[in-house]
Amino acid sequence: MSFFKTVRGMRDILPEEAKIMRYIEEKARKTARLYGYKEIITPVVESYELVAAKAGEEVRARMYAFEDLGGRKVALRPEFTASVARLVATTMRNEPKPLRLFCVGSLYRYDEPQKGRFREFWQSNFELMGSEKPEADAEALLLTNTLMMAVGLKNYTFKIGHVGVLRGILRLEGLEEETQNRVMQLMDKKQHEEALGIVKEAGASDKCLKTLQRLVGLRGSNIASILEEMEKLVREYEAAAEAVKNLEEILRLVKESGEKLDITIDAGFARGLEYYTGVIFEVYTPELDIALAGGGRYDKLVELFGGEPTPAVGVAHGIDRIMLAMQEQKTSLTTKEEKRVMVIPVNEGLINEALKISEMLRNEGIAVETEVMRRRVTKALEDADRRGISHVIIVGERELKEGTVILRDMQKKEQKEVRIKELAEKLNLSSA
Ligand code: HAM
Repeated sequence: MSFFKTVRGMRDILPEEAKIMRYIEEKARKTARLYGYKEIITPVVESYELVAAKAGEEVRARMYAFEDLGGRKVALRPEFTASVARLVATTMRNEPKPLRLFCVGSLYRYDEPQKGRFREFWQSNFELMGSEKPEADAEALLLTNTLMMAVGLKNYTFKIGHVGVLRGILRLEGLEEETQNRVMQLMDKKQHEEALGIVKEAGASDKCLKTLQRLVGLRGSNIASILEEMEKLVREYEAAAEAVKNLEEILRLVKESGEKLDITIDAGFARGLEYYTGVIFEVYTPELDIALAGGGRYDKLVELFGGEPTPAVGVAHGIDRIMLAMQEQKTSLTTKEEKRVMVIPVNEGLINEALKISEMLRNEGIAVETEVMRRRVTKALEDADRRGISHVIIVGERELKEGTVILRDMQKKEQKEVRIKELAEKLNLSSA
C-alpha cells in the first residue's frame, strides 16, 4: 500500500507551530476580553447561498462547495463574517446593540498553495454590530493594533482606504452594482487599467475617468495631505466626499486614542469581499507581501440576510500569516517555560509506584511524563536530556522503603534523595 500524504493545500501542523498558533489564539482571546467581545462558535459547514452571497467573485470561485447527502448545497466556510451576520439577523436579532462578537477557527478557500496562502487557514475574527459611528471603526483598528503588539510584531503598517470613495463616484456615474463589483474586484487585484476600461465601457464621463486615475495613484503616509488631495479630487461627487470626511474622522479618533499606528492611506484601495460599504483596511509587515489581517465596515449585510438594518464593522486576523511574520521577525514567545518532570522506575516491579507518583504530582498541577518504554535508567535519562525535561524522578527499591525517591535536576546535573511526600513542594520551589 502506498503512503498517504495530506491533500494538496492541506497541512499537518506539528507541535512547534501548533504552539505558536495557540499562542496567537490566546493573545486574540485576551484582546477579545480587553475590548468586551464575547465568543461564539459557528459551524464549519454553511449553506452555499449564505457564504456566496457577498463573498465576491474571487472567494466565490474558490469555495469548497458540495451537495450534502440530503441534497443541500453547502460549503465549508471561507470566512466568518457571513455566519456572524446570519446569527445577528436571526437567533441574536433581539440582542441589545452594540453587540461585540468574537470567533476563532479554520476557514477553507481553494487558493493556489504558496507561502502564506493555504487552503485551510485560521483566523481570529471580531465583529462589532449596531454602530455606524466612526468610533466603532476606530475600535476595529485599535484592537488589531493591540493584537499585533501582543504577539510581539514590529514595523507593521495599516493600509487604509474607503470603499465609499470609489463606489460613490461609480454610483453617481450610473454604473450598476454588478459593474461596480467587477471594477472593485479588478482594483483589489491592482489591475487598474482593466478596471478603468470597464468604467469607460460602461459610459462614464471623462471627468470620472480622470478622477479615478488620479485616485488610484494616490497613496502615502502623510495622512493630512493625502486626505486633502482626496477631498479636492472628489469634491463634485457628494457621496465620495462624505466618505473622505468619514475616513478623516476615523483616523482622527485613532490618533487621539494615543496609540501610534503606522498608517498608509491608499485612495484606490479595494478589497475582494463585496459587502464592504465604508472604511477598509489591511495589515502588513515589511518581511511579507501578503496581508496579516483585513477588515472594514459593512452596513447592509445583516439586512440582506433578513435582519433589522444593522450597521457593522469587523476584522479578521490571519493566524497562519501572523505566525509566518513572527518567524520572519524571530519573535520569541513570552510564555513561561513550564517545568517538565519525568518519572523513571529502575525496574519493572516499580512501574506501579512510578505511575502512582506521577498521578500524585499531576494532581498538584505538575506536568509529568512517565517512562513507558521500560528502558534502562541511563537510556531514559539520555532521552529526558534530549527532550529538555527539567527534572527526573528515579524510583528505586531501596529509597522507596524509606519513603523517598531520587530527584535529579537535569540542568544542574545534581541529584538528591527527597521524601515522596515533599516532592511536589520541592519541585514547585525549584526553577524550570
Ligand atoms: P480576508 O481579507 O479575506 O477578510 O481575510 C482576512 C485574513 O485572513 C487575511 O488578511 C489573511 O491574513 C487571512 N487569509 C485569507 N486567506 C488566506 C489563505 N488562503 N491562507 C492563509 N491566510 C489567509 C475576511 O475574511 C473578512 N471576513 C474580514 C472581516 C471581518 N471583514 C469584516 N469583518
